[in-house]
Amino acid sequence: MSYNIAIDGPAGAGKSTIARRVAKKLGFIYVDTGAMYRAIALYMLENKLEEEAMIAKAVEDVNVKIVYEDGEQQVLLNDKNVSGLIRTEEVGKMASCVAKVGAVREQLLDLQRALAKTENVIMDGRDIGTHVLPNADLKIYLTASSRERANRRYKELTEKGVACDLAVIEQDIIARDHQDMNRAIAPLKQAEDAVLVDSSDMSIEEVVDAIIAAFKEKC
Ligand code: DC
Repeated sequence: MSYNIAIDGPAGAGKSTIARRVAKKLGFIYVDTGAMYRAIALYMLENKLEEEAMIAKAVEDVNVKIVYEDGEQQVLLNDKNVSGLIRTEEVGKMASCVAKVGAVREQLLDLQRALAKTENVIMDGRDIGTHVLPNADLKIYLTASSRERANRRYKELTEKGVACDLAVIEQDIIARDHQDMNRAIAPLKQAEDAVLVDSSDMSIEEVVDAIIAAFKEKC
């Protein structure tokens, strides 16, 4: 039997940072499902496919695989490792668009469920607790205010020397939340049995400790 922890929440809430640390502490595998949508988005951008019908057709030619190198998830797009190419704002926005397409979600659902079946996983995304792993042992809904999420992103980008505008970042975050929460299939929402964690005024370690305590209490 394997343990599954689901973490859902809006863009920039810190899901991947937190999930990676929890995974390390518990000896679980971290599965970043957003990276799978991002890989498909990259394919659509490279092939200039924007219409939903075109995306639904083209996804038949796309093969996404997940492998682990030194414990870090790598995403293979048609057997090419694209992990280093999918972290841009452009790919993130496109990922939110391709994620509306039913054929895309169906393809990734099987891959996500297969990973959780055999391994102890902590999996993050938008529909993990509500749809992908409805029987997860622990479900977390991790959020923070849009202003705080924008501040964190602004800091991250300026530290990398990327010129950016805080107001534009916050607008993009609000637009992405709206798109992810209002799509017809598997929209982002808090599962009824999820523990709500608002990280606006919490440090990374505080959130990690809260999740591990919640897991130990339940399992
Ligand atoms: O978490 P992220 O920013 O890497 O995700 C990119 C987009 O992928 C996100 O805006 C919506 C989509 N996504 C999804 O619809 N379902 C998931 N389980 C994970 C991501």
